[in-house]
Amino acid sequence: MTHLAVDICGIHLKNPTILAAGILDETGKSMIEVAKAGAGAIVTKSVGREPRSGHPTPSIVELHDGLLNAMGLPNPGIDYFADEIKEAKKGGVPIIGSVFGGTEDEIAGLAAQMSRYGVDAVELNLSCPHAKGYGAELGSTPEMVEVVCRRSKKGVSVPLFAKLTPNTSDIAALAVGAERGGADGIVAINTVKGMAIQPEARMPILANRIGGLSGPAIRPIGVRCVYEIFEAVKIPIIGVGGITSGMDALEYIMAGASAVQIGTAVWSEGLEVFSKTSKEMLRFMVENGFESVPDMVGVAHPDRH
Ligand code: SIN
Repeated sequence: MTHLAVDICGIHLKNPTILAAGILDETGKSMIEVAKAGAGAIVTKSVGREPRSGHPTPSIVELHDGLLNAMGLPNPGIDYFADEIKEAKKGGVPIIGSVFGGTEDEIAGLAAQMSRYGVDAVELNLSCPHAKGYGAELGSTPEMVEVVCRRSKKGVSVPLFAKLTPNTSDIAALAVGAERGGADGIVAINTVKGMAIQPEARMPILANRIGGLSGPAIRPIGVRCVYEIFEAVKIPIIGVGGITSGMDALEYIMAGASAVQIGTAVWSEGLEVFSKTSKEMLRFMVENGFESVPDMVGVAHPDRH
């Protein structure tokens, strides 16, 4: 019987669509709505040690084929988040807690605290491209990624995922660093560093000047990154970047992803995007003789034909 259920590092998902960090995931109540809409799992907003208001506005620019954001990691702080996780768990789908920090020790401490809150996995944000001292600044070399993962892994009792930046010449090397450091899975990709300029004003639109591009425009970059990572590591990969349909998700899965995350399409398509993506994937599987998602993982690689 054809089905969409997947297991990633022992976490059971009824389908492979996961809400990506950063949208509708700051409160337990909004996460329950996403679960009701059909997401197979949910990643929380990235949270840090202290409450942060993020960058000044304008912090988002709408483009033809995506969004450019420089939110600056606004979040309520980890201590506030225990109740939100407790509430979110009522949605009945796995919750993945995302954390960011300014040093390896800080991230490791946050990962441990998030793990104690009862999440099903922890995702390390080693890839936000626009928050000074955080995100990609701790994830830009394989050595840094390895050290952060190793430190964080010691304190968590659940699977640990590393979310990597595409703003590098070799994302597969970063993934190898994560695997060496003991990460259980890779999440690829975060946003692509970009800028938009308002010609009349002769200045960048974002107050932070530089932001991260998400949405359909970056899907080919994400698919290429997942393809390269799949050839370099053995741990599972979760693909993210520009997915708005079942066929988009299948590109990531055939490149090597075991599941996918959806973020910007929640803004552009609405919450229905989760059930729509799942339905379209299932239809393709029935029509093309695939019984399960794992049967399709990595089939775009020549040696998996
Ligand atoms: C943000 O909340 O600032 C975006 C998060 C990210 O780019 O990782």
